[in-house]
Amino acid sequence: MIAPHPSAPAAPARTVRKAVVPAAGLGTRFLPATKATPKEMLPVVDKPAIQYVVEEAAAAGLDDVLMVTGRHKRAIEDHFDHAFELEQALTAKGDTVRLDAVRDPARLASIHHIRQGEPLGLGHAVLCARRHVGDQPFAVLLGDDLIDPRETLLSRMLGVRDRRLGSVVALMEVPPEQIHRYGCAAVEPAGEEDVVRVTGLVEKPARQHAPSRYAVIGRYVLDPAVFSVLERTPPGRGGEIQLTDALQELAAGGTVHGVVFKGLRHDTGDKADYLRTVVRLACERPDLGPEFVAWLRRFLGELDGARPGRRDVAA
Ligand code: G1P
Repeated sequence: MIAPHPSAPAAPARTVRKAVVPAAGLGTRFLPATKATPKEMLPVVDKPAIQYVVEEAAAAGLDDVLMVTGRHKRAIEDHFDHAFELEQALTAKGDTVRLDAVRDPARLASIHHIRQGEPLGLGHAVLCARRHVGDQPFAVLLGDDLIDPRETLLSRMLGVRDRRLGSVVALMEVPPEQIHRYGCAAVEPAGEEDVVRVTGLVEKPARQHAPSRYAVIGRYVLDPAVFSVLERTPPGRGGEIQLTDALQELAAGGTVHGVVFKGLRHDTGDKADYLRTVVRLACERPDLGPEFVAWLRRFLGELDGARPGRRDVAA
């Protein structure tokens, strides 16, 4: 049994214990950085993006995390493993702060890895988790979506699953011109604040065909019934087996709810949003923030000014 992460609040007893993190994408949007490094390992300040996701799962009481990886993903396995040489060197130096930073990823949860083999889509990645997950509800967290660590979205979704059973997706209202980037949900009220019944789902619809402005963001709590649906879900948009298509079938049966999220979410899969995320989180860090914010103010002042002087903004 893994000790709970120090940052994890005491979680209530739950029926959901397992999280699945699909991490087999090619990361083409970040080439060449992702030529030999998985995109999930790109640093957000000083932690790889995927560590935030595992921390989020652990904070919601999920102590078993299955990574569904592909080729070239050894770095992810190594990151969530012990690093004895590094630990020994830091122990010898008495550097307990860095020692904790090195040990933390392996202590967050019991981490497992499986390979997807072929990149057949998100639905296929989730289906790869079937044997590990078994006949229990489970969470799916997509690595490109970083939910601010102060938010409690996943816990809220787990609570909705506990009370209403079935599957639960996280939804966020987005401007109509952005809906084509997401799975989109048709919804009706469910008699509870921020909770809706999902009546239909469509993957990345054109704006004029979108049933709403509710985008599916990368957090799901799924009933194991999704596996048998995924097994017979044909390739959909982009020739890939889409999780959205399987959930559409479950939604038609009335067993899918949505939790409407109004908090802070960062899309680290998008280059500009990735940069915004790094800057925002750096500004908020007590150890880095004060100096970095002061520099940022000077830098912005220079950008606004007539003559940007690079020497003045050097670190
Ligand atoms: C995936 C899902 C999509 C969802 C999105 C959230 O798409 O297929 O339904 O809205 O994640 O980030 P991707 O961004 O992997 O293309």
